Amino acid sequence: MCPLIPPELVGDIPVNKYPLNWTVIESRYKTVVNGSHRPEKCTARHKVALLIPYRNRARHLRIFLNHMHAFLIKQQLDYGIYIVEIDEDIPFNRGFLFNVGFKEASSDYSYDCFIFHDVDLLPQNDHNLYNCPDQPRHLSVAIDKFMYKLAYSTNFGGVSAMTKEQFTTVNGFSNFFFGWGGEDDDLYNRLVYHKMTISRTMSDVARYTMLSHKQATRNPQRIKLLRSGKQRMQTDGINSLEYKVLQKIHRKLYVHVTVTLEESALRPFKKFSLSGNTTIFRRSAANFDLS
Ligand code: BGC
Repeated sequence: MCPLIPPELVGDIPVNKYPLNWTVIESRYKTVVNGSHRPEKCTARHKVALLIPYRNRARHLRIFLNHMHAFLIKQQLDYGIYIVEIDEDIPFNRGFLFNVGFKEASSDYSYDCFIFHDVDLLPQNDHNLYNCPDQPRHLSVAIDKFMYKLAYSTNFGGVSAMTKEQFTTVNGFSNFFFGWGGEDDDLYNRLVYHKMTISRTMSDVARYTMLSHKQATRNPQRIKLLRSGKQRMQTDGINSLEYKVLQKIHRKLYVHVTVTLEESALRPFKKFSLSGNTTIFRRSAANFDLS
């Protein structure tokens, strides 16, 4: 077994925000294969899948992968990185993409811990351990953009960690939150409903740099969806997930999954779209700036 505290951790680490080219990044991580890595000299204590919902952030992705592989290797994890995308016709949906990532990663390997991670957040301290404790853990406690202050006490967005069992118990994320906001608050409500409490790493360790980007359009339906969340909890989540895989490619530094939703699978969401019509819902994606 690898030691409880990985021996090479140093605390604060530099964050390189310059996007290196793919060849350079790939050559830095010779031992990473299919987006995965495990320690050579000991048996990892944790099998961790990092799930990243993604759209149109090629520059961020290079910065992220360059930073994260070094970080995770040092933590002596048996890990895999999954970049999950939805067809461009359909508005972005963070919760749905995490559910897809959870299923796809679980079908590849016996991961026991899942880290739900935004692509624009980079940990600044390697004592911030990417494993799953007894209770769900919120990791992105202190972000530079927000003056290293937690926005509100129930926040569970940005970067969070849950065991396979915890995520299955709460039925994953809701699939209904298209656009920006609310899906993490809804997940928090699911945890509370199931009598889980969230744990947090100390804010001097759980520090993150946020890469800059345009603020996405807020989903005007999110408050309404949050209020009705409890009624949907048992039927909206990983047990109701429907999608079609357009491609699943095991690249060197990550597994790239792209999915779509059939028109029929979009129907339950239509009243939460901007127009209330699934056909226009598809077309409206272009005007719905979610990148
Ligand atoms: C949104 C969350 C988001 C949080 C912090 C809330 O208003 O509903 O999804 O994580 O703000 O930005």
